[in-house]
Amino acid sequence: MAMKKILSVLKKEKIDNTPIWMMRQAGRHLPEYLEIRSKQQNFLSFCYDVEKATEVTIQPVKRYDVDAAILFSDILVLPDLLGWEVSFKKGEGPVLKQLVSEKCLDSLTAPFSKNASCVYQIISNLRNQLQKEKTLIGFAGSPWTVATYMIEGRGKQDFSLTKKLIFNDRPLAIKLIDILTERTIEHLSNQVEAGVDVVQLFDSWAGVISGEYYQEFVINPTKKIVTSLKEKYPQLPIIGFPRGSGYNYEEYIKQTGVDGVSVDQFIPVNKMLEWESEVVVQGNIEPVVLLSDNQDVIKRHVDNVLEKMYGKNFIFNLGHGVLPSTPIKNVEFLVNYVKSFKQ
Ligand code: CP3
Repeated sequence: MAMKKILSVLKKEKIDNTPIWMMRQAGRHLPEYLEIRSKQQNFLSFCYDVEKATEVTIQPVKRYDVDAAILFSDILVLPDLLGWEVSFKKGEGPVLKQLVSEKCLDSLTAPFSKNASCVYQIISNLRNQLQKEKTLIGFAGSPWTVATYMIEGRGKQDFSLTKKLIFNDRPLAIKLIDILTERTIEHLSNQVEAGVDVVQLFDSWAGVISGEYYQEFVINPTKKIVTSLKEKYPQLPIIGFPRGSGYNYEEYIKQTGVDGVSVDQFIPVNKMLEWESEVVVQGNIEPVVLLSDNQDVIKRHVDNVLEKMYGKNFIFNLGHGVLPSTPIKNVEFLVNYVKSFKQ
């Protein structure tokens, strides 16, 4: 019988080697991705192109035989589906309309634009095309991380606008977060209905706030999303990735109710070992290790993790996404090494 290894680990069933997938496994390090991408000017239209998005989701699974496919989409698809202006400029990254007043929130409660059905169609296509033993992962950005883009209007920022808003006009910030929380639940529920096995919440900027703000803007909305999804889908595993959370990882694990936590490369392996008794841990190889021209360096980093995490409640992954300049042969080496590692 085909067993979905990642799904099994998330349900705390024992399997006999370490499952692996990589954040940003589809994308710019793959020539077959760049080939399809070069024919499409607009990144968001690409995300809604049912045939192309289905194909690029499967590309890394075909090439590397990783254990999961992650829906090809983006965390900024959600604001786009809500009619918020989002575009991706070459060399600049995302550019968005900026939140300036409460008035801006009015439009965010309308139904999703018609492109939403394309995303869910991609999922049902993937469901049909993927081998039965591959786990299909759906995702969304966390309300906090998506809010930072809507407040700053771009990526690569110092978050001063976002911090100013939460310090000076907390009610407005909370109103935005509450709306995004509801809309994220809706988007993820639709993904589950369309056929994903697991969902991951990407909170790439969880690490830029702390204290009561971390509680209110990271933990509380995550907990709401988890509680609400579990009510509807008690069997659905949910992975949270509060990147850069440092000491706050422990509160995140304790309070949010996630089944899995994805950890960045700054979390010590001993902490991962401690946490795996409560939650399935995923991570945490430094993505730059994969740029190495000496594969012994990769081996050393993998050994360091697997010597402690092999056979535990653990999914192998990177601490962040695969970098565009990553050589294919290093990813191949990594995947094969992890899959054949036995203790
Ligand atoms: O393979 C996968 O992981 C699935 C697809 C995926 C993408 N983005 C495709 C993408 C996923 C899961 C994301 C999540 C995402 N998007 C995050 C959270 C994870 C993280 O990296 O912290 C964030 C913050 C974004 C926002 C985003 N999307 C930025 C800042 C950028 C531009 C900067 C960049 O890296 O180019 C994107 C664009 C993007 N999303 C690309 C891909 C493959 C590159 C676009 C291209 O091909 O030109």
